[in-house]
Amino acid sequence: MAHWLRILPVLALCGCPAGVPQVTPDAAPGRPSVAPDGGLAPASDGGADAPLFTWHRDLQPLFYRRCQSCHRPGAIGPFDLSHYDQVVALAPMVEDAIVGRRMPPWKAGADCNSYEGDISLSDDEIGMVQWWVADGMPEGDPSEAQPAPPFPEQALSRHDLILEPPEPYLPTRRPDDYRCFVLDWPETRRRFITGFEALPGDPQLVHHVIAFRISAAKRQQILDRDEREPGLGYTCFGSPGVIEEEGTWWLGSWAPGFVLAGSVGAELPPGLGLAMEPGDTVVIQVHYNTTVLEPRPDRTRVAFMLEDEVEKPSRWLPFADPDWIWGSEMPIPAGEADVRHEFQVDPTLFPPVSDGRPFLIHDVGLHMHLLGRSIRLEVLNQEGPPSCLLDVPDWDFNWQPAARLAQPHLFRPGDQLRMACQWDNSQANQPSLNGEILSPQDQNWGDGTTDEMCLGLMLISTQ
Ligand code: HEC
Repeated sequence: MAHWLRILPVLALCGCPAGVPQVTPDAAPGRPSVAPDGGLAPASDGGADAPLFTWHRDLQPLFYRRCQSCHRPGAIGPFDLSHYDQVVALAPMVEDAIVGRRMPPWKAGADCNSYEGDISLSDDEIGMVQWWVADGMPEGDPSEAQPAPPFPEQALSRHDLILEPPEPYLPTRRPDDYRCFVLDWPETRRRFITGFEALPGDPQLVHHVIAFRISAAKRQQILDRDEREPGLGYTCFGSPGVIEEEGTWWLGSWAPGFVLAGSVGAELPPGLGLAMEPGDTVVIQVHYNTTVLEPRPDRTRVAFMLEDEVEKPSRWLPFADPDWIWGSEMPIPAGEADVRHEFQVDPTLFPPVSDGRPFLIHDVGLHMHLLGRSIRLEVLNQEGPPSCLLDVPDWDFNWQPAARLAQPHLFRPGDQLRMACQWDNSQANQPSLNGEILSPQDQNWGDGTTDEMCLGLMLISTQ
């Protein structure tokens, strides 16, 4: 932190907001120059010539923590940002993505709640990048580089069970192939899942993986669905095609690069676990992104951490208006640019949490499809202001990790959960599927690519 102290005299001179080196965009878009007030050039550090920030001392540690989990050889990011020369060569684009807050990808609204594993950059960090670029991107002294241990091979501390499809699958649909694979659950007694991660066969092709639990009662439906389609697995989009009204059905989601973020595709909070019964089935949905890569055969495996007993048996609680799901009462008319639906209820009045007791909310996920604009889940407290759980003001279908609340929220009977979704079904916001831009159609709840959803998911436990 020592270098931040060195900024202080500069800030005192230029009157910048505390901690943020003041840079303003000049005529060239995306390229900042230093604010003219005080006549300071970035290289002038209170008179000394030494640059304020250098690659080895300041920027590399930031890129290591916030970019290189994805932008390194073999990872999901489209290019490597591990080395000075690579970052310098891409500097205008890199700076623009950082200042525009597109990278690192973190879409949770900042004024809603605090999360473990929040990978977004602070204003100070963004300011540092801008300053460094405006200063001519000094490399600095390699001897000042901090050690950067290799990225961990796996997110979980142990792999107790690994499941895999019987053979590799060759994605066929472009630019996106969403495929569900049915995996038998081999355990012969009740076990608790305490951690989940996907082990993609081809890390550049696999965009995300979601695992679902299918109960013995619904297993045949899934097998029938699997059999109807030729080839390994079947096409599925928003869900595996069977929704469990009761019981845990969401087991976890995984996206590459979030391994270090802690909250996704990794371990549940200590003491929590999701019960799996003998005879259950696991369905994994794998999203292959074939936009730029030639499809190649992939065999993605999933790994679980298991316990026999846990302190707080937990579950994912899905939350949506039942009338949307079963009554088609979530109309999104063709051509309308601002369609909103919302729903609020005290969930302790209904199964599966109808025991009238308070419960803890640990992780929160939100789910819509391709026409979504924004989504928000909050608690309307009987007393006091609402508690926002997760807000995605600028919905992006590719950003759906579960966010872990820094402090679990205690939900009390009498309070209400409130979900609000907004869609844009105008021509300007139509997705392109298999290379063609679709024209607006009337939409409603459904699990196809061109249907919509407005779903909240909360990892809950007793107190
Ligand atoms: C969780 C994974 C992940 C992390 C972390 C991440 N990126 Fe990316 N980045 C991607 C992926 C995937 C793409 C390509 C798809 C896209 O554009 O969203 C991308 C695209 C980009 C692009 C080109 C597209 C654009 O929006 O300009 C830039 C530049 C970029 N990343 C820079 C960065 C920088 C700088 C960081 C760290 C401050 C970072 N990324 C962190 C995954 C990541």
